[in-house]
Amino acid sequence: MGGSSGRAGLFHRQVAAVSCAAGLLRSAGALAAEPVPPVASDGYCQGIISLSLAVMLLLLFCLLLLQDRSRRRLAERALHDSEERYRLLVENSLVPCYLIDQQGVVRYANRSMCSLFGYQQDDVVGHMNFRDFVDPEHLTRVEEHFRARLEGREAPARYEADGRHRNGDTIHLEVLATGGLCGGVRVAVGSVLDISLRKRFERLMLEEQKQREEMNRTLEERICEEVERSREKDRLMLQQARFAAMGEMIGNIAHQWRQPLNKLGLALQRMQMEQEKGILTDQLMEERVANGMDQLLGLSRTIDDFRNFFRPDSDPAPFSLAGAVQKTVGFFEASCNEHNIKIAIEGNSSLVCNGHVTEFRQALLNILNNARDALLDNRIAEPAITIILRDEERRSVLTVRDNAGGIKPEIIDKIFDPYFTTKGKGTRTGIGLYMAKTIIDQQMQGRIYASNAAEGAEFRIVL
Ligand SMILES: Nc1ncnc2c1ncn2[C@@H]1O[C@H](COP(=O)(O)OP(=O)(O)O)[C@@H](O)[C@H]1O
Ligand SMILES: [Mg+2]
Repeated sequence: MGGSSGRAGLFHRQVAAVSCAAGLLRSAGALAAEPVPPVASDGYCQGIISLSLAVMLLLLFCLLLLQDRSRRRLAERALHDSEERYRLLVENSLVPCYLIDQQGVVRYANRSMCSLFGYQQDDVVGHMNFRDFVDPEHLTRVEEHFRARLEGREAPARYEADGRHRNGDTIHLEVLATGGLCGGVRVAVGSVLDISLRKRFERLMLEEQKQREEMNRTLEERICEEVERSREKDRLMLQQARFAAMGEMIGNIAHQWRQPLNKLGLALQRMQMEQEKGILTDQLMEERVANGMDQLLGLSRTIDDFRNFFRPDSDPAPFSLAGAVQKTVGFFEASCNEHNIKIAIEGNSSLVCNGHVTEFRQALLNILNNARDALLDNRIAEPAITIILRDEERRSVLTVRDNAGGIKPEIIDKIFDPYFTTKGKGTRTGIGLYMAKTIIDQQMQGRIYASNAAEGAEFRIVL
């Protein structure tokens, strides 16, 4: 626009200069044609002036003509430079560009565009149709976009489509399309981006995500299986621990039976002696039998207690902590008495806890058995076990303390592990404390702690 208005201005100036020069020439001619005035020298002077004016105007006209030509040359040069710049830019651009006419014939495609599809520019420009470059599966959609664009309808400015390389390979493309006028005719222009790498990456990511999801799913299943297996293992271990505890319990029963059996034996011997001496009257006989029956009843009660001690209670229920402790100590006492172990229960006797009382008694028995073992192993002169019941910040706390010297610091972190024992193979199983912890932690939602006090080990159960 600016160029054309400049040119128009120049043209007007030239026309003005020419018409002015013509006017002057005409006036010079008119002067010459006029009759010579009376003073010849004046007329001569006027003629000279007119002529010089005409010559000057002619010179001016030539000057303007020259100036115009040099300006035009400059403009042409600028146009040429600009075109060269554009060509350089588009031709050498690494972004593939194209221009397609109404029939779909490629009217221009830069080198990047042609090499992307494996062609030379000469093969493509003016000879090939854009349809030759589109994957048949995507052709209908791409053609629809192309037609819409040329007909001025709405068409996506950016879309993805697959292209077809000369060698038949598929190229994933992102097309940035637009339209325009070229020589007054509507054409489709645009550029394409090779997104094959991105697509491959996306596909890989998708596959990886699927694999991850699959792995997570199977992982979940595996975790469930493992948890189930571990629960089963726990169940078996508890079972095993229960058998071990029963074994120890039978030891306690033996202790408990020893005294009444002795008494019974003595009573029988005494009866025999009394009969030999002839002093066994009916009344004495009755007394002796009643006494013996008492002892037998005691023995039978022990067996019942033993059975009840291990009879699993079905539902968790509130129970008296002191009651459970008393009952456990009742079983344990006989073996303590035999070894002169003093056992004392102190503190609050009104505490109530919730849970399976049988399991709790087993846990406590395991702790008491360990205390007894430690007291005997270390040959403590005045062995003692103290059980303290306390109410601490509305939690029931039971402490079992002995004076056997304590747990070695290097093993204290392992004593609750299953099968951990320091008592030599065959003697103990190493699952007593594991069982106690499982019962307290998992079944009663409590906590069990082991530490060393001044004279020995201290086990603290918080319920
Ligand atoms: N009162 C205690 N004093 C010293 N050591 C103890 C005491 N209680 C437990 N231990 C230690 O903890 C270990 C694990 O105990 P436990 O699980 O009952 O297994 P086990 O009695 O079969 O060895 C014992 O072997 C022992 O070394
Ligand atoms: Mg033990």
